[in-house]
Amino acid sequence: MCGITGYIGFREAYPIIIKGLQRLEYRGYDSAGVMLYDGENINLTKTKGKVSKLEERVITEISNKGSIGVGHTRWATHGIPNDINSHPHMSQSGDLVIVHNGIIENYDTIKKELKTRGYTFQSDTDTEVLINLIEEIKNQEKVKLGKAVQIALNQVVGAYAIAVFDKTKPDEIVVAKLGSPIAIGVGKDFKEFFIASDASPFIEYTKDAIYLEDEEMAIIKIGREVRVRKIRDDSNVDPKIQELQLNLEQIEKGGYEHFMLKEINEQPQAIRDTLRGRLLPNEGIIKISGLENNMKRFLNAERIIIVACGTSWHAGLVAEYTFEDFARIPVEVEYASEFRYRNPVLTEKDIVIAISQSGETADTLAAIKLARSKGAFVFGVCNVVGSSIARENDSGVYTHAGPEIGVASTKAFTTQITVLTLIALRLARAKGTMTSADYRLHLQEMELIPQKIERLLKIDTKIKEIAKKYLLSTNCLYLGRGYNFPVALEGALKLKEISYIHAEGYPAAEMKHGPIALIDDRMPVIVIATNKGHYEKVVSNIQEIKSRSGKIIAIVTEGDATVKEIADHVIEIPETEESLTPLLTTIPLQLLAYHIAVMRGCNVDQPRNLAKSVTVE
Ligand code: AGP
Repeated sequence: MCGITGYIGFREAYPIIIKGLQRLEYRGYDSAGVMLYDGENINLTKTKGKVSKLEERVITEISNKGSIGVGHTRWATHGIPNDINSHPHMSQSGDLVIVHNGIIENYDTIKKELKTRGYTFQSDTDTEVLINLIEEIKNQEKVKLGKAVQIALNQVVGAYAIAVFDKTKPDEIVVAKLGSPIAIGVGKDFKEFFIASDASPFIEYTKDAIYLEDEEMAIIKIGREVRVRKIRDDSNVDPKIQELQLNLEQIEKGGYEHFMLKEINEQPQAIRDTLRGRLLPNEGIIKISGLENNMKRFLNAERIIIVACGTSWHAGLVAEYTFEDFARIPVEVEYASEFRYRNPVLTEKDIVIAISQSGETADTLAAIKLARSKGAFVFGVCNVVGSSIARENDSGVYTHAGPEIGVASTKAFTTQITVLTLIALRLARAKGTMTSADYRLHLQEMELIPQKIERLLKIDTKIKEIAKKYLLSTNCLYLGRGYNFPVALEGALKLKEISYIHAEGYPAAEMKHGPIALIDDRMPVIVIATNKGHYEKVVSNIQEIKSRSGKIIAIVTEGDATVKEIADHVIEIPETEESLTPLLTTIPLQLLAYHIAVMRGCNVDQPRNLAKSVTVE
């Protein structure tokens, strides 16, 4: 988590760094800081709070001049969010400055050692320890900054993306990566360089970027090609300059009040992008190259284990139903954080599917490494192109949802379900576990999903009305069965993470085994009661809630008459195949959470304590 930016070149660095930090704020937003070098002095300020607060600080405290600088937006790990613990951190002499995204696990041992050598520390952070270790090595070994960084990184355990500046050599910045991402934007004729956790801070300046791999570092010097080398063995690496596909429009709000709302509304297009070139309903074909190239493995798989966290885990749960239902392959869905630490039984006949929007989630990455070490074949479902998880797999597929900036995942979820459903259908076809008519029907229905979501999004005003009635609730229950049980979990997660209302998702039938005790006239219960699946049984659950005075918000299929009679509010979704209903039922739940959160005055794009990608355990 945490976002880092940097600039070295001929322009004023401050506006580039500040705008970059605003774009990276989704990565962490409990404090922010900036360092600018004006040719003589280091000007550094930092503060608890958001980037907007940092801007106020800069105006009153420091000169914002200079064409070299680094910036940071933080999600605290070591040390509470306060001014002192914020980045950048300076070395004891005041010559070196660092911004860091990650964790140095052995910082305490190093700190004790440095203290014996006379170092004192201002903050509680692991990062201040790292910059002083670099300084100590630089002085003791009499080496240049790059070498000192390299030696230091060979002594630390943990994860990092760092940018380090040395006032005594002010024409370069040294960057390094292990576990956390770093991109270097390369300006024309190497006259300027941009450094950032992702490419969004510099897309208006250059389309050429170098993404460092794990255990690589780069020395970035004005007027010279970027020099990349391996941290461990000092070998040189040929830097690959990639052309960025990202454009400015994709990372701006485009007239919406929040990124979350924009991303909810982008879902029809995002799903079209996911399907493009992969779903050919008229020909009856599904084509996913990462799958086709490994078809034999999938067909021989004795078991599929899905690993993921949060919303991606919910998408995995939906896939459990589709894979078992369509392709008759046994599926287990695991929290990556549990899987990685519980010595799971894995064989070469197992396929592990890792799902991640960001491709950076530390637990999912560790689960992948564990699975591969035990011989399992790992297939990734990722959104962020070139991310660590995308690179760690044996094969995989991108969801092509486009950048998701709101911390609450929306279009990532529906595009993950889309891609996983395509895989299940393709496997079913290959295994002959689905009739040809049923297969064709699903393909045709799948193609219609984007336009059905477009229709569904028009219910926004109705959902606002419902949101008004329940915005003061303190608890909320979400119920669903079968394919819509994971949607109930996802609906509850959306509400709790952005509105801070406690919410629980349950399989509808489980309600009577405990949660029913919570129901009274102040308890809103959102029930997914679409017409296929276990409709009658869910209707009975609704009756049970009603007879205990609970308030029912029901998600039903268009034309439903029964639930309308009982429920307090009814939201209709277009008719579709049962396995595809999660792609529709989830939309009103996203909108409901969004409107309740906005009405409660919450920051929906940057909910408290959260960050978009969780790169720590
Ligand atoms: C959902 O709204 C969350 N912000 C969170 O649960 C997220 O899905 C989880 O951290 C996994 O992230 P990933 O998909 O990037 O791996």
